[in-house]
Amino acid sequence: MLVLGIESSCDETGAAVVRSDGTVLSDVVQSQVDLHARYGGVVPELASRDHARNIDPVVREALARANVGLDDLDGIAVTNRPGLVGALLVGVQFAKGIAWSRGLPLVGVDHLVGHLLAVFLRRPADEDAPRPEFPFVALLASGGHTSIYQVDGPTADACRELGGTRDDAAGEAFDKVAKLLGLGYPGGPVIDRLAAIGDASRFPQKAPMASVRSLEFSFSGIKSRMARHVADHGRPKDEAEIAALCASFQRAVTDVLAKKLVQAAEMNGVSRVVLGGGVAANRELRERVKTLANARGIDSFVPPLASCTDNAAMIAYAGAARLGRGDRDGWDLTATSQTSL
Ligand code: KG4
Ligand code: ZN
Repeated sequence: MLVLGIESSCDETGAAVVRSDGTVLSDVVQSQVDLHARYGGVVPELASRDHARNIDPVVREALARANVGLDDLDGIAVTNRPGLVGALLVGVQFAKGIAWSRGLPLVGVDHLVGHLLAVFLRRPADEDAPRPEFPFVALLASGGHTSIYQVDGPTADACRELGGTRDDAAGEAFDKVAKLLGLGYPGGPVIDRLAAIGDASRFPQKAPMASVRSLEFSFSGIKSRMARHVADHGRPKDEAEIAALCASFQRAVTDVLAKKLVQAAEMNGVSRVVLGGGVAANRELRERVKTLANARGIDSFVPPLASCTDNAAMIAYAGAARLGRGDRDGWDLTATSQTSL
């Protein structure tokens, strides 16, 4: 089965053609980062307008790169939740238009399910990498969500939340701390880069809720402590100090994320852990999860960077799973800010 996936939930317009076995034939992501950068975060109205401008060329490009026409497709999958409703609607309406005009089946996909299944995508660079079997326990850490799920199968009804953040998402904390340090938006990649050259022991940070045996997270406290540091000492100017602050923040956050993911798997008697979401692109988190899981005899599966951050290939794959079991959505498919998980 060949599925066209469409993604427009936040600040990337994406389209991808994916086979139901996960093979990615094309994956086009048009980022709006430059558009929102000067506001320090995503401006919903600007996002919707930019999706409306870009969706047609992005979909055309995805079909061209995959060397397929609309008539070669077996279905259309589109992110319809959660996200900015105005942004989601652009993708949903576009997907309905194509599906209706070509008589193709249409399914809405929960963006979070896309992230949880992104580990199954097969890109040229990781075609032969092992894939997990079900069940697995996954950490989904992005700009809007940070939760641990048990995943028993490839659809939303087989994903169960085991614990999540009480306040900020991990990616949101990265973005806020970067803003505080004058590093721009999005914060994750910059902090990741600077942390690699920083001395994490210079301003040690306690990992938030690390000692609590629940699977909940909290990232607002560490963000406030970083803000207090900047208020007390002024915004650091010298690069070594900025890098040290980034390193200690990242150490604390990745430490608790990795520990609780492995702890969740052990508590639930599951022997596989998976990473997903934009924060899963973080080098330290990837390393920590691999090391910690390995030490506990748990298999870890960490997708390549392109599968971690927002993309339409993961939506196409999750859509293929729904289409494969006969699911269909009607022309009344709506966009909503709430996840189905
Ligand atoms: O999954 P994603 O692309 O979009 C959402 O669904 O939110 O995640 C975006 C988030 C942003 O907060 C960004 O700062 C963070 O992922 N991020 C990272 C890294 N790359 C992206 N956080 C930490 N380290 C990174 N290397
Ligand atoms: Zn996402």
